[in-house]
Amino acid sequence: MHRFRIGVLTSGGDCPGLNAVIRATVCAAHNLGWEVLGFIDGYEGLLSPVNYKILTPENTVGITSVGGTIIGTTNKGRFVAKSGHGEKAVIPAAVIDEAKRTIADLGVRALVCIGGDGSLTTADQLFENGVPCVGVPKTIDNDISATAMTFGFDSAVQCVADALDRLHTTAASHKRVMVLEVMGRYAGWIALHGGLAGSADSILIPEIPFSYERLAGFVDRRMGGGADATLIVVAEGARAEGGEFETLHVDVKGEARLGGIGHRVADEIAKRTGRETRAMVLGHLQRGGAPTTLDRILGTRFGVGAVQLIQEGKFGHMVSYLNYHIGAVTIKEAVGQLKCVKPEGQMVETAKAMGISFGT
Ligand code: F6P
Repeated sequence: MHRFRIGVLTSGGDCPGLNAVIRATVCAAHNLGWEVLGFIDGYEGLLSPVNYKILTPENTVGITSVGGTIIGTTNKGRFVAKSGHGEKAVIPAAVIDEAKRTIADLGVRALVCIGGDGSLTTADQLFENGVPCVGVPKTIDNDISATAMTFGFDSAVQCVADALDRLHTTAASHKRVMVLEVMGRYAGWIALHGGLAGSADSILIPEIPFSYERLAGFVDRRMGGGADATLIVVAEGARAEGGEFETLHVDVKGEARLGGIGHRVADEIAKRTGRETRAMVLGHLQRGGAPTTLDRILGTRFGVGAVQLIQEGKFGHMVSYLNYHIGAVTIKEAVGQLKCVKPEGQMVETAKAMGISFGT
């Protein structure tokens, strides 16, 4: 008879801090005498050919500081429960049944599902179908409700701030306008926090539609007033008033890959102001590399918290970070709606008080 066994998996887009959660889950579980199976490539590892590896404190040494995930992930596959903003898809019964069989055959008593909005929606559907799941909120976008922060966000913000610091010196040398496109499909947290940390002059986010005319006016006044550079951060999901998302590509299921708004903004500014303007897309650099210390600590606390949820039998719950405290909320509460920037909130107010333009 084997020991009390739990499974852990990482699902959806990767982000810095996943390995910290894995390491903490393994160590906390081992302290209780439990065994941990790491399912490979997210929920897909639960389906034939079943794919997992036994994780131990020994074979996870040193991973807390490493980006990515040692057990792989996917944002495709047979378990996708959300195809777009708020659109819930039902996972086929045959897929759920197969996953349940795997869990029963392996004697797995609980599953730690580390994922964003879509992957946690999958966890909740599994839970509703009798799989004892607990969730850990992950995403660089920081757009999951019922938690003040997700791990990965701080690392992405650090990446944006570093990029802006670099762009500033080159922009100032040439008296240029620089536009930096960052991730954030529906929520502008990365742009807002990264922009503040990196001293951007303008921040454009999905929650606050902007006007090219007013943005160009702002740039012209700044540069005309003697500013040596203007730095604009734009979230990939930002839109002009009445405008559409800029998309790179729409897949067969109708889900769009966003991108292009940075170059569009740069073109419009150059056209309207006649000033030299350059654009760059930060892209997946924001998801790669080592997690910041904050994300390592948050990830570690989440991993330990997830094991505690299992101990307490709180299935269908997710660890959350509120008021510096790790607590629990139902997964349903967290995935019901995305946590977006409040246009009237304190962060936007702070940015405005600094003279930062939202293009309005
Ligand atoms: O949800 C995280 C995220 O990084 C988004 O900000 C971005 O739009 C998306 O993932 C990119 O996904 P992919 O890795 O499939 O290009």
